[in-house]
Amino acid sequence: MSILKEKRILLGVTGSIAAYKAADLASKLTQAGSRVDVILTRAAEQFISPLTFQSLTGRKAYTDSELWGGESHILHVGLGHAAELFIIAPCTANTMAKLAQGQANDLLSITALAAQCPILLAPAMDVGMYEHPATQENARVLQERDVHFAGPAEGRMASGLLGRGRMLEPAEVLGHARRVLGKKGKLAGKKILISAGGTREAIDPVRFITNRSSGKQGYALAQAALDAGAEVILVSAPTALIPPVGAKRVSVQSAEEMLNAVLRESDEVDAIIMAAAVADFRPAQVAERKLKKRDGIPQIQLEAAPDILKRLASQKSSASRPRVVVGFAAESRDLLANASEKLKSKKLDLIVANDISAKDAGFDVDENRVILLTPDGKKEKLSLRSKIEVAEIILARLGDLLEK
Ligand code: CTP
Repeated sequence: MSILKEKRILLGVTGSIAAYKAADLASKLTQAGSRVDVILTRAAEQFISPLTFQSLTGRKAYTDSELWGGESHILHVGLGHAAELFIIAPCTANTMAKLAQGQANDLLSITALAAQCPILLAPAMDVGMYEHPATQENARVLQERDVHFAGPAEGRMASGLLGRGRMLEPAEVLGHARRVLGKKGKLAGKKILISAGGTREAIDPVRFITNRSSGKQGYALAQAALDAGAEVILVSAPTALIPPVGAKRVSVQSAEEMLNAVLRESDEVDAIIMAAAVADFRPAQVAERKLKKRDGIPQIQLEAAPDILKRLASQKSSASRPRVVVGFAAESRDLLANASEKLKSKKLDLIVANDISAKDAGFDVDENRVILLTPDGKKEKLSLRSKIEVAEIILARLGDLLEK
């Protein structure tokens, strides 16, 4: 999560029962390498103690008791100036109202007024309070001033009522934070389509042929592209993964559906990364009803599934084709020779060659060992590393290709 590494994050915590989620958020940010300073309001202190945050972040957590100390000026101006992002999570209706009006009567609101970095709010309030015209007006005013919002979500409140006002889960707030931090990244203003996961080719209504792809590399690429500021369309075959915050996910099943989604969504995209493990073969006939055992062992005739990259390659001269196309090569032998052949035949700008015979890398694990090949004959060998790091390197090379 290099986007969060060594980032100076200010976390404001206000008086809501969702304050417990702020502890998890502080922990996640710290684990990702950020330096997290926390400010608690007096109401927040009723729900959670500064010690909780100090223990999680290894840094001081500030309260209003410091506001009148000898260093108070340095404190509120200093904290606001040093931060690269100010997250207020949970943010109560009261704090939203204060921020909208520019009130500055406690350490958190004074710091928010002095802050020069982006502000991200994760509202948390009971049913009705968020929908109230007063709160909606405050939200509108804040959005107009470029304050970012993460949520709130709909769901069950601590009061037992159902409605909109729940603070987003810490992982989701973290996703929004990455989005805000990435806004000025190298790929800002670029639109990238990424395919992920293994397609499913139906045999009958309950059975299908698929492969071992988990989608992890494709999803990591989507997150890395978002971190670099890109707009991301994630065309995904079924996976167990949660799409990164900010990506537009288009869910598909088969190679045919993926082809149609890629063609439909690739209008005006700057780049395509085909990380999906697309079926090469599919049953020639899909049984309308479930095949029955009593009818004997079926003989399943296969036919070729559409090759998406080949289809894109046939549009090479078309104006609607993206400027950069990246493919993967999953090989169990002759890695370089096969990958080079695919680079050429699929008219790619970059291919990521992947030795799938290795147990520790490739399909369904968190790490990958790949070689990047380009048409000019250059080879870049990456040692075993996390799929997240591999994704960041691929996106960096993609950024270079888009700049050319
Ligand atoms: N691919 C595709 N459509 C397919 C199969 C693959 O677009 N029907 C894409 C993959 O997403 C990947 C690249 O082509 O980016 C190479 O996929 P791979 O499975 O390694 O190669 P194949 O083209 O299937 O060739 P082979 O069977 O010879 O390995």
